[in-house]
Amino acid sequence: MKQIITALLVLISASLFAQNNGVSEENDAKMQWFKDAKLGIFIHWGLYAVNGIDESWSFFNGYISHEDYLKQTKGFTAKNYNPEAWAELIKKSGAKYSVITSKHHDGFALWKTKHSDFNAVESSAAKKDVLSPFVDALRKNDLKVGIYYSLPDWSYDDYTHFTRETQRYNIADEPRRWKKFLKYYQGQLKELAKKYNPDLYWFDGDWEHSSEEWEAPKVREMLLDKNPSTILNSRLKGEGDYETPEQGMPITRPKSNYWELCMTMNNSWGYQHNDHNYKTINQIIGIFADVIGNGGNLLLDIGPKADGIIPEKQVDILDGLGRWTNKHKEAIYGTVAGIPKEHFYGPTTLSKDKKILYLFVKGDPNGEVVLRGLKNKINRIWVVGEGTKLSHKVVGKVYWNEYPGITYIPLPEKVLDENITVLALLLDGEVDLYREDGAVIESN
Ligand code: GLC
Repeated sequence: MKQIITALLVLISASLFAQNNGVSEENDAKMQWFKDAKLGIFIHWGLYAVNGIDESWSFFNGYISHEDYLKQTKGFTAKNYNPEAWAELIKKSGAKYSVITSKHHDGFALWKTKHSDFNAVESSAAKKDVLSPFVDALRKNDLKVGIYYSLPDWSYDDYTHFTRETQRYNIADEPRRWKKFLKYYQGQLKELAKKYNPDLYWFDGDWEHSSEEWEAPKVREMLLDKNPSTILNSRLKGEGDYETPEQGMPITRPKSNYWELCMTMNNSWGYQHNDHNYKTINQIIGIFADVIGNGGNLLLDIGPKADGIIPEKQVDILDGLGRWTNKHKEAIYGTVAGIPKEHFYGPTTLSKDKKILYLFVKGDPNGEVVLRGLKNKINRIWVVGEGTKLSHKVVGKVYWNEYPGITYIPLPEKVLDENITVLALLLDGEVDLYREDGAVIESN
C-alpha cells in the first residue's frame, strides 16, 4: 500500500512538474523576442504636448482645470506628423520595439475608437487617426508593436476618479455605473486587439482599483485568447509577464527574469518645452549598458510635439544611441546578463553559449582593464566594432591553488570609443569564475 501511495505521489508530482515546466517553457518561448530586444522606444504623445505640461497629472493634481486642459485639443494638430520617419528613427537607434500611448490617464485616444468621441479624429485639430499609420510604419520596419493603455480614464463620466480632490462615486454605491465603465474600457481593449493585434500591451494606472474591480484576469484571458503570444507588462495587478521599474535604474540585479526599465531622457514623459534637463548621451548609454548587463531592457521615452515633430535634442540622443548600438551589436542583441560585479567593475554581457564575455569599459581606464578571478583561459580578445586584437597578462596566479589570479588587458587610447568601449573575450569554454573568499594554501 505504502509503495503504491509513494508511486502515485511520484507520478502526480512528475506530472505537476511537467505542467509547470510546460507553462514556463511556453512563456519563455513567447518572451524570447523581448529578452533579445534590449532596447525599446516609449512614446508619450497626447494633448499635454500642446501646453507642454504634465501628461494628465496636470489637471488631476489641480495645476490646470479640466476645462482648460481640454482646450489643448485645439492645438493638437499633428500637421507635421510623419509616422514613417518616426519608425525609421526608432529603427536607426537600435531599438527593436516601440510602445506608444494609445490613451493616457486623460482618456484622449489617438485612434478612432467607437466607444467614445474623445479621440484624435473627432475631438482634436488633427482630425485624423494618428495611431494606425504609426503601427503600420513599425511593422514595415520590422519593429514590434507595443500599445500603452491607461486603465484609469479621468475624463470619462462613468469612471470613479476625476481629480485628486474629487471622486465621482464609489463602486459599492453605484456598481452599475462601474459595470458601464468596465464595458467601455474592455471594449476599447478589444478594439485595439482587433485593429492592431499588438505584440505587447503596456498597462498603466492599475493602482486605482483592485484586480477584482478591474477584472484583471479576465482581461488577460481575453487578450491572450486573441493572440496567445502577446506580452503584457506587470501593471495589470499581477497579471503581467514582466516587471517595469520606472526611472530608477535597479542597483542590484532584479530577480525577475524579464524586466524593463522605463526612463525619460529629461524629466518629462511628454513634450515640455521648459524641460531642458536632458541626460547626456554618455549617461544614457551607460544606463543602457547597466540594464542589459543585468538582463533587462531599456524602454527610453521620447515626447513628440503637438504637431508631430520630435524635439531635436531627442533626435540627437536617438542618433547617438544608434551609432553606438550599431557598432556594438554583437555585445548587445541576443546576449544574456553578465558576470557578478566583483569580477569586473562595470557592465558585462555574455553570448548565449557563455563562451564570449563582453566587458563594457566606461571612459578611459588609464592604460589597462582589470578582470578578477576568471578561471578560463582566454583564447582571444578584440575590440568590438573596431577589431583590434589585444593581449593580456595574468598576475597573482598560484600553482598550489585553483585561485586563477587577476587579468590585466592593456587598452591603447586609439581604440577607445567616444562613449563606451566594449571588449570581447573568447574563452576556452563556458565562463567559469572563482567565487571563494581567498586563496588558502592546499600544498606547497
Ligand atoms: C507613471 C505615470 C505616467 C507615465 C508612466 C510611464 O505611471 O503615471 O504618467 O505615463 O509612469 O511609465
